[in-house]
Amino acid sequence: MRVLFVCLGNICRSPLAEAVFRSLVQSRGLDLHYTVDSAGTGPWHTGQRPDWRSVEVGLRNGVQLTGRARQVEARDLVNCDYIIVMDRQNLADLLALAHANNSPPRFRLLRDFDPEPGDSQVPDPYFGDADGFDRVYEIVLRCCSALLTYLEEKRTGTGGRA
Ligand code: 4NP
Repeated sequence: MRVLFVCLGNICRSPLAEAVFRSLVQSRGLDLHYTVDSAGTGPWHTGQRPDWRSVEVGLRNGVQLTGRARQVEARDLVNCDYIIVMDRQNLADLLALAHANNSPPRFRLLRDFDPEPGDSQVPDPYFGDADGFDRVYEIVLRCCSALLTYLEEKRTGTGGRA
């Protein structure tokens, strides 16, 4: 399963989701079955390390953020099994990219997997205070856990859910 997490800048939410999801994959002994990455719809932070506030909330929770920001590419749309987006603007941007590249959309909002979905969006913490990153971490953790359970049901053919 190739899973790509996408936000706007690829420095706050999606690198955190990537790290949390990868950590869950490892803790469930599923490394062999998953390739995990993240990207942004925007180009501005390409090549940069994740925002220090995401790095810090990750470290406090035993999760290490790796990699550098990159922009979503057309080939991601065909190479990835699941593209998991943080908010509706990401979704709209990717649908436009899929349309322009004549590729099938395979996107889901991360909070589609949230037992407490709220407004279905992971709030953008970039211009807010440090508390915003803690809130994002809590959302990302419970969504990624549910997402991995969902994908395992798909991959192994158990569970019977669509
Ligand atoms: P992200 O957060 O999409 O979660 O990585 C943002 C990062 C940068 C900007 C906006 C959101 N920005 O406007 O530069």
